[in-house]
Amino acid sequence: MIQTNRRKFIQRAASMAAVGTLPLTYVRLGSSEQSAGFSFAFISDSHIQHIRGAEFVRNWDRGLIRAVAETNLLNPKPDFVIYGGDLAQLGTRPELDHGAELLSALNCDIYPILGEHDYYLDLGEYWSDLFKRPHYYSFDHKGVHFVLLNSIVTSDEWTYERWPTAEQRMNEMAGLDNANGSPFIVGDEQREWLKNDLAQMETSTPIVVISHSPLQKIYKSWNFWTDDAEQVQAILAPFDQVTVLYGHVHQIQYNQIGNIAFTSAMATAWPWPYPGSYAHSEQYLPVLTVPMNRADPLFARDATGWQFVDVHTGRAAVNYYLYDNAVRTVAWNAENGHPEDQPFQDSVTGPRRGSCSRGLAA
Ligand SMILES: [Fe+2]
Ligand SMILES: [Fe+2]
Repeated sequence: MIQTNRRKFIQRAASMAAVGTLPLTYVRLGSSEQSAGFSFAFISDSHIQHIRGAEFVRNWDRGLIRAVAETNLLNPKPDFVIYGGDLAQLGTRPELDHGAELLSALNCDIYPILGEHDYYLDLGEYWSDLFKRPHYYSFDHKGVHFVLLNSIVTSDEWTYERWPTAEQRMNEMAGLDNANGSPFIVGDEQREWLKNDLAQMETSTPIVVISHSPLQKIYKSWNFWTDDAEQVQAILAPFDQVTVLYGHVHQIQYNQIGNIAFTSAMATAWPWPYPGSYAHSEQYLPVLTVPMNRADPLFARDATGWQFVDVHTGRAAVNYYLYDNAVRTVAWNAENGHPEDQPFQDSVTGPRRGSCSRGLAA
């Protein structure tokens, strides 16, 4: 954990891009002092999957390779990369080693967090050895306080007592809709650490929280859910500007709860449909405070594409450039007090990647 005392941050502006099956999130932050502006990239959910020997599932490999290559081409160069978890599929050493090898091609530092697919085989032991990182930590960068949580732990009973082998525990947690899985928590110990960590901060300090699962309750049956989300939100409540970026859901999501803006990153591996579609509709538990225009669940590439987020004065405006869909902007509406999908159009006339990448450099 790195701690500094930068407390004079006044204003920030961010832009983020995520790329469809190459969901790479690019965030630009700036302050009143131009020299303090910076950017970082966010890559998540690559699910590197071992087959046998030196064979891995090629599609998942290619997603991460492409994200790393695009990151290295970003201009301006990001100060660092955050990896949002689920690097591996079943948490094995070959998968984590191979994923780390692909990530080692990045030309800047990386701050990773754990996903459940990295964790439940050996409870994050090898992951920590490999990346030389604790399971949760924080650091300051140019006036912004970054907190990286391990949001995918669960009760000791489930973790230590229920399963005869570590492999079975991993397999139970790896299924999206497996009823034998367990809801995620941040947990008492980590929430206590978070309280102490933030106690050193002025409430005007911009806080960026990185989690794997959403720190809000969206859909329990698929673990788009963190069971103690409200308690974590309460710890973040005193701060003027809080942004939570998360992986795990493999789809576009945004929400606003009090002072906290939530934005998901897409996965490099595959998109999930929205819960509420197919046979799951009757189980859908909507707790989003902002109604969302949703992607077409029958079209696997819908809701994948470039994503830019501008965060002026702490409020996210997300500009989506989607494959085979029109440009969308989700921006803060001061009148109704939440983010809103501005003119959403379900056409097939959206721009392709080339034009977006130029926008990224602008
Ligand atoms: Fe994932
Ligand atoms: Fe996950």
